[in-house]
Amino acid sequence: MPYRVLLTPHSSPSLPLPPPPSSSPSPSDMAAFRGGVVSARVLSSATRPSLSSSSRSSFSFSSSSFQCLRSSPRISNLFLNQQRAGEVRVSSRGYGTISASASDPDQLKNAREDIKELLKTKFCHPLLVRLGWHDAGTYNKNIEEWPQRGGANGSLRFEVELKHAANAGLENALKLLQPIKDKYSGVTYADLFQLASATAVEEAGGPKIPMKYGRVDTTNPNQSPEEGRLPDAGPPSPADHLRQVFYRMGLNDKEIVALSGGHTLGRSRPDRSGWGKPETKYTKNGPGAPGGQSWTVQWLKFDNSYFKDIKEKKDEDLLVLPTDAVIFEDPSFKVYAEKYAEDQEAFFKDYAEAHAKLSNLGAKFDPPEGIVIDGSPSAQGEKFEAAKYSSGKRELSESMKQKIRAEYQAIGGSPDKPLQSNYFLNIIIAIAVLALLTSLFGN
Ligand code: HEM
Repeated sequence: MPYRVLLTPHSSPSLPLPPPPSSSPSPSDMAAFRGGVVSARVLSSATRPSLSSSSRSSFSFSSSSFQCLRSSPRISNLFLNQQRAGEVRVSSRGYGTISASASDPDQLKNAREDIKELLKTKFCHPLLVRLGWHDAGTYNKNIEEWPQRGGANGSLRFEVELKHAANAGLENALKLLQPIKDKYSGVTYADLFQLASATAVEEAGGPKIPMKYGRVDTTNPNQSPEEGRLPDAGPPSPADHLRQVFYRMGLNDKEIVALSGGHTLGRSRPDRSGWGKPETKYTKNGPGAPGGQSWTVQWLKFDNSYFKDIKEKKDEDLLVLPTDAVIFEDPSFKVYAEKYAEDQEAFFKDYAEAHAKLSNLGAKFDPPEGIVIDGSPSAQGEKFEAAKYSSGKRELSESMKQKIRAEYQAIGGSPDKPLQSNYFLNIIIAIAVLALLTSLFGN
């Protein structure tokens, strides 16, 4: 990860170190560090971009007395986990001034594997999709400042926001994800929610979502949006209401209809949202917690059956909310709803794009261009439209580009001579061979 951490003693010269080695830091280690008497300054790649994978793990400390820390894998790992996470709990005693930073690519990948395992045992795909959507869906494109603009910033982890009526039941999603968050503290909550949602769609048989990561977390509950930014299921004029809410997020009619297709997964429970039956023949045996009313028969399978079922409205056991029904009533929505009912491929394509766009709403990315953890379309250099809803820091300034060029050239690279990734390894091998030859022929 492209961060340089500057550690400086705060009021005491002694750095309170966690207890002696084990393979990875324990929660108590983390707590010790969180309350530690250090102030850490994290210079993200936005201000200090990395140039090669070898430089990613390089940390510099402002005091030479801390240099030794780097040599301890355990300690440096501890710092990596903590500083990269952005999940920094500034101590109530005022210790630590830490700016938020984003996620670690390797930890993102590992967290994704753990989410897949969780899905296999808990069948919580729908809940995780709803979690991602509700964190992102508070975005207001008319507010420029982050995090006031809302969106995918992890603010939904705070009780104040979880208690919004629209979020009823989502505390269960957080409980399911918390062990993964604890294991991978180098993944921000904002990323974890979106990673979980996209993985759930994909694992349920849905399309591959062209995701990027690196979302910065809000740091305190005061940064949560006010209640009422998410849509109601039964407003007086559903089409107007959907447009009002989704246009505010910068989404259009096509995206409203495609994203409504998220209801191909899951159930509604009267004890949570007030909508749906307590149970139906499709939900009474689970999987997962039994009960609720689903929109589709196979409510853990991501396909286009939501559109087919809403259109037919034939099965009393399947749910149709007023905001679902309207996608076949409003003339503009209907064009897309009809298309998706006929053509699953078209639905998957539009859904994947809309989901990725939704997942980026309001997010502040660090690095600004985001982190791609697999070969998704955006990883192949395709220009991703949703970038304009991100941090607004997409382009590096000219002076920053010059600095990068200078650093690159200083370590042997040039525009016409790309730096070999095994540059340092080659030097080490050359020295080793020389040493061997010297010892052979020297005797
Ligand atoms: C169009 C406006 C929307 C409205 C009015 C709406 C409303 C609702 C309601 C009332 C529930 C039931 C919650 C409960 O009782 O547990 C629900 C569940 C759900 N929603 Fe939406 N939703 C909307 C859009 C979306 C979008 C855009 C997505 C994702 C792309 C989505 C994904 C889900 C999922 C997956 C569930 C099932 C959760 C579970 O089974 O635990 N919804 N929604």
